[in-house]
Amino acid sequence: MARRLLAVLGLLALSSVVPFSAAESPVHLSVDTTKPGAKIDRNLFGQFAENLGHGLYEGIWVGPDSSIPNTRGIRNDVVAALKELKVPNVRWPGGCFADQYHWRKGIGPRDKRPATVNSAWGDVIDTNAFGTDEFMDFIQQIGSTPYVSLNVGSGTPQEAAEWVEYMTAGAPTALAKERAANGHPEPYKVGFLGIGNESWDCGGAMSSDYYVSLMKVYSRFVVNMNPAQRAKDQMLKIAVGPGTPDAEWTDAVMKAWKKHTWAWDINGVSLHWYTVPNGWPPSTSSENFGLDEYVKTLKSALFMDEFLRKQEAVMDKYDPERKVTLTVDEWGAWHAPLSGSNPAFLVQQNSTRDAILASLTLNIFARHSNRVRMANIAQMINVLQAMILTDKEKMVLTPTYYVFKMYVPFQDATFLPVSFDAGTYSHGATPLPRLDAIAAKAADGKLLIEITNLDADSSVAVDADVHGVVAKSVKAETLSSAAVDSINTFDSPNAVTPKPTAVKIENGKLSLNVGPHSVTVVSIEP
Ligand code: AHR
Repeated sequence: MARRLLAVLGLLALSSVVPFSAAESPVHLSVDTTKPGAKIDRNLFGQFAENLGHGLYEGIWVGPDSSIPNTRGIRNDVVAALKELKVPNVRWPGGCFADQYHWRKGIGPRDKRPATVNSAWGDVIDTNAFGTDEFMDFIQQIGSTPYVSLNVGSGTPQEAAEWVEYMTAGAPTALAKERAANGHPEPYKVGFLGIGNESWDCGGAMSSDYYVSLMKVYSRFVVNMNPAQRAKDQMLKIAVGPGTPDAEWTDAVMKAWKKHTWAWDINGVSLHWYTVPNGWPPSTSSENFGLDEYVKTLKSALFMDEFLRKQEAVMDKYDPERKVTLTVDEWGAWHAPLSGSNPAFLVQQNSTRDAILASLTLNIFARHSNRVRMANIAQMINVLQAMILTDKEKMVLTPTYYVFKMYVPFQDATFLPVSFDAGTYSHGATPLPRLDAIAAKAADGKLLIEITNLDADSSVAVDADVHGVVAKSVKAETLSSAAVDSINTFDSPNAVTPKPTAVKIENGKLSLNVGPHSVTVVSIEP
């Protein structure tokens, strides 16, 4: 009996490594290399680092005297990990926190900075040790671009104008001299400026008309003074957009933009959308969950596509040339807080399900890249759908981190249409597409194909015609795991990591098998 059981278990083990059932006919991807679409802007892979919980403090900032290896107070391990992602931009200091932030409290000698209360997130004491110059240092260390959110809710246009002057003035103004005295004679480049955050809610519960009036004033008087950003590399101004899929807010902002004069302008409208499958407060578990939660979460994440379409329809009305970008500057899975954590710190685990959610969302952005040119996942470290989790000196990279790493070649690649029959994966009453895929031509000429297998149980055989592409080499990488709720932990950091996977091209046809609940990127060198 025991022997028979072992034999059965052996077979099961074998079947779990055999990648697909030969009986299944392959899903055929048809990549149209003759109809290149828009650029998949690298800024779609942006990050969000709010002063919230351990996102900045402990996640990035440990201080120069910490025993944790650091450069001028910023963790070396975190910097090294983020450099691999080629993070195009980082949004800071919030979020809801931004509309309570007074920048002057975070500059100058750190031992003289006032302690304040972070009333946006848990009423904890904020030492203000991580202020403007520390943020800019972090940005320079990881090789990114700052996306600074202004305080429109409790600040003034003058305070915001002075902040941007402090950061960007090249001429020897009093504020530029103050920056120099704080160790930074060279002006900083500020790539993006957010004019408030969720002004319809935590940013001041404003009506759209009231916000639009303020938006014009901030746009007019908050000026980037960096000489290197006057003619080219101009700072882009992002207005607050909606957090629900109705048209009213976007309509008000875009209607105003349509009539803008020389005196003011905006370059983007934001949109916030979190995956909260059961509604607020978030109640899905970020660990130890089953297939019900898996399918529910992914179904909910796919709503992003419809949300974007609705906003694009409004924007197209006023801006058919698509000058104004739709900036999804907060997105991701928002699960219940981990038990034992401070609920105001928004701590959650990050599983293979979240990695799949990330790939589906990035694919949606790629399909909308003629209007959606910037996005920021919430959030970078230790908060919500994070890239990185830390605990004192320990650090672990999440499955979502690895998706972002696998997608690096898609930064600034050219979108290529790909058609396929996605099929259906159902669990209970919830049907999902079984497969998702995008294709692109990378900046270095490689043909990239991404395939997400949502099917939690079965591998899928995939093939694609790549006629016209004489492949010098082909390689593929897959992020997969034992279960949909697999996670990386400090003790077991490699449970969900990308691994090379078999792929071949024969007679102009690419073929591979993608494992259950997996994300795969194929790269063909012509
Ligand atoms: O990311 C957490 C919070 O979610 C942000 O501060 C806010 O803008 C949004 O509601």
